[in-house]
Amino acid sequence: MADSPYLVSRLQGFGTTIFAEMSALAVATGSINLGQGFPDADGPPEVMDAAVAAIRDGHNQYPPGIGIPELRHAIVAHQAKWYSLEYDADAEVLVTAGATEAIAAALLALCEPGDEVVTFEPYYDSYAACIAMAGARRCVVQLRTPDFSFDPDALERAITPRTRVLLLNSPHNPTGKVFDVEELELIARLCVEHDLLAITDEVYEHLVFDGKHVPLATMPGMRDRTVTISSGGKTFSCTGWKVGWLCATPELVDAVKTVKQFLTYVNGGPFQYGIAVGLGLPGSTFRRLAAALEEKRDRLSAGLAAAGLTVLPSAGTYFVSTDIRSLGETDGMAFCRSLPERCGVVAVPSIAFYDDKDAGSPLVRFACCKRLEVIDDAAERLRGMAR
Ligand SMILES: Cc1ncc(COP(=O)(O)O)c(C=O)c1O
Repeated sequence: MADSPYLVSRLQGFGTTIFAEMSALAVATGSINLGQGFPDADGPPEVMDAAVAAIRDGHNQYPPGIGIPELRHAIVAHQAKWYSLEYDADAEVLVTAGATEAIAAALLALCEPGDEVVTFEPYYDSYAACIAMAGARRCVVQLRTPDFSFDPDALERAITPRTRVLLLNSPHNPTGKVFDVEELELIARLCVEHDLLAITDEVYEHLVFDGKHVPLATMPGMRDRTVTISSGGKTFSCTGWKVGWLCATPELVDAVKTVKQFLTYVNGGPFQYGIAVGLGLPGSTFRRLAAALEEKRDRLSAGLAAAGLTVLPSAGTYFVSTDIRSLGETDGMAFCRSLPERCGVVAVPSIAFYDDKDAGSPLVRFACCKRLEVIDDAAERLRGMAR
């Protein structure tokens, strides 16, 4: 759909998100929606119960602008326990309306018009829009199929004197890539050498099956130049709650807070209590959540392979990427638009996450964060797909 003529020029081309288009298609055709990444079952009952109790206990007015103390202290304890990263709960933590607001506020606060932001493609779609809103320029380095590795020289070349921010998403949507320590060391070295700020999106930090999530802020020289962002929605299967946060030095938090206070000011008061309880759950609960999702990833991957798709490796997140060329097709957008009619399944064309349209065209992303019976049903439908 063409953009409205009223839309400012810097946002022309952003139109309707691909998720909205594909989810509407799923509803219109009664298809199984493996497009948008939301779970179809609730997370830990302790988390739900704590939010319900907070509503009943009258925590229904504006929470403090930086987030309730219970959640800020839980975030600090979480960063220390999982990553040995120490933060001050009053000066170095900011609770936000999901990771989405944290990313938007950080980019708006830290980028001057004309600054450059280096990120990897495929990229989560809000990055491009928020970089554009900030009047900054996006410079992408490609994660290359089939293993989603990147060329270190390409990363080095993408950094110019105008580069202000390196924006890293790991574990990575849509590929499922988990950046390894060697890659993070290289990224950290370049950030330090070129005096860049880093913004990291770690919303899938606990949903890793192969390898280990390592925050960029733990790398040498990075703690004080990184805005580390995460949220509770993915980990605790409550994507509708939109409780996110960021951790950074007091100066960086101050800058981002200035923007954040005029975007939403605050959100999700009672849900903040729920996420505070969630972050304090024992390690065994987090491992159980990851193991359950791993089983779903495996089940979906097998189903996709049986349907003739080339399944690309996914070490974490809610997603599995595929290459449709094994089906003799090359246009992922056309494939996804026809899939509901052909077999009653909705997926997302990865081209929406690429600047390099040729590279993204044959790739299609499927969400694995659904109940096993739903995945089995989708796999069955895909196997019967009319060619
Ligand atoms: C990589 C990535 N970052 C951020 C978000 C948004 O997180 P939130 O719902 O906490 O705003 C998502 C949601 O799909 C995501 O996949």
